[in-house]
Amino acid sequence: MTSPSTANDLVLGIESSCDETAVAVVRSGTQILANCVYSQIEAHAPFHGVVPEIASRAHLEKINGLYEQALDEAGVSIQDCACIAVSNRPGLTGSLMIGANLAKSIALVHDLPVLPVNHLEAHLYASALEGARIEVPFLGLLLSGGNSAIFEVRGPGQLLRIADTMDDALGEAFDKASSLIGLGYPGGPRIEAAARAYADQHGLAHQYSGEGSLFPRLLKNLPRSDLAFSFSGIKTAVRKAVQDLPVAPGAAAQPEHIGRICFDFQNTVFELVARVTERAVARTGIRRVIASGGVLANGILRQVLQSSADRKRFQLTFPRSRALCTDNAAMVAALGWHLLQTGPVATTLDFDVSSRAL
Ligand code: KG4
Repeated sequence: MTSPSTANDLVLGIESSCDETAVAVVRSGTQILANCVYSQIEAHAPFHGVVPEIASRAHLEKINGLYEQALDEAGVSIQDCACIAVSNRPGLTGSLMIGANLAKSIALVHDLPVLPVNHLEAHLYASALEGARIEVPFLGLLLSGGNSAIFEVRGPGQLLRIADTMDDALGEAFDKASSLIGLGYPGGPRIEAAARAYADQHGLAHQYSGEGSLFPRLLKNLPRSDLAFSFSGIKTAVRKAVQDLPVAPGAAAQPEHIGRICFDFQNTVFELVARVTERAVARTGIRRVIASGGVLANGILRQVLQSSADRKRFQLTFPRSRALCTDNAAMVAALGWHLLQTGPVATTLDFDVSSRAL
């Protein structure tokens, strides 16, 4: 058992669930002493998405070096840490195993407890690293490359999924749409940049425009009582919009046309995100929303959600730093520390990894 009374304030975090290899040292769940991240984006870019085998190999190559670097940057030794928190679900199982095995090895050698944590839940604690107080209950809006969901969170480790995607995750939809448009991988930042340039040039507000949009409103017939996302249909619509572009044979599409597709794509998917979030607040009566995940790096989504929060009067929190929205190990350590505060936590080296969230 690990309990707050025996623990000092340092937690080592380890993250390897997808395509970022990361190790961090965090004090009191709030203060980052080191947050080392190796992004594998370049290795996966030629394949327009994450290749599990390439991801596992890259984790294996990088993780030991990142562990040493994190301790070095934090200026602490591993014996100074109260425990090791590691993402063990959900994610690519081969990748998760690399982080879990490192955590178990360090724990065995240095006689430290290990807390396996939920990677999605960890995203929701990233804001604590910027001073936000995590008060429960709250709604956790998680929008990343692999997940799009809303959780009702009653405490650390107590998650109930109340909304999910019926098909693609939002980040995945950005990546696929970008590939169809010819902008490459990762799609999110590239679509955002093209949409911004288009809006600036035409003096447009980033807002879904119904009849004027290239794309129909998503899930427009969703019963008011239902909470769900769906992002696969718009992929087909993007493919069609690209095919319909007025391009001479052999010539490249005009940035103007690409910008229009990106602008309408973003406005369409963000309208659904805001609508479902507002419904989740109304349904649960919980007026605190913490948002995170890679797609929250998008400045337009931040604006859309903030205006929704202002209009519907709920409190919205998300990491200001874009690096804390995407995968990192500081958020894993932050959740580990918050779990420790709930009282004695059973720790064991006999834990597995899983591709499933809950
Ligand atoms: O949370 P995350 O780092 O990890 C995974 O779930 O893999 O999220 C990565 C996702 C990618 O799909 C990427 O395209 C998306 O986040 N993303 C963005 C932006 N930056 C990253 N999506 C929209 N706009 C962005 N600026």
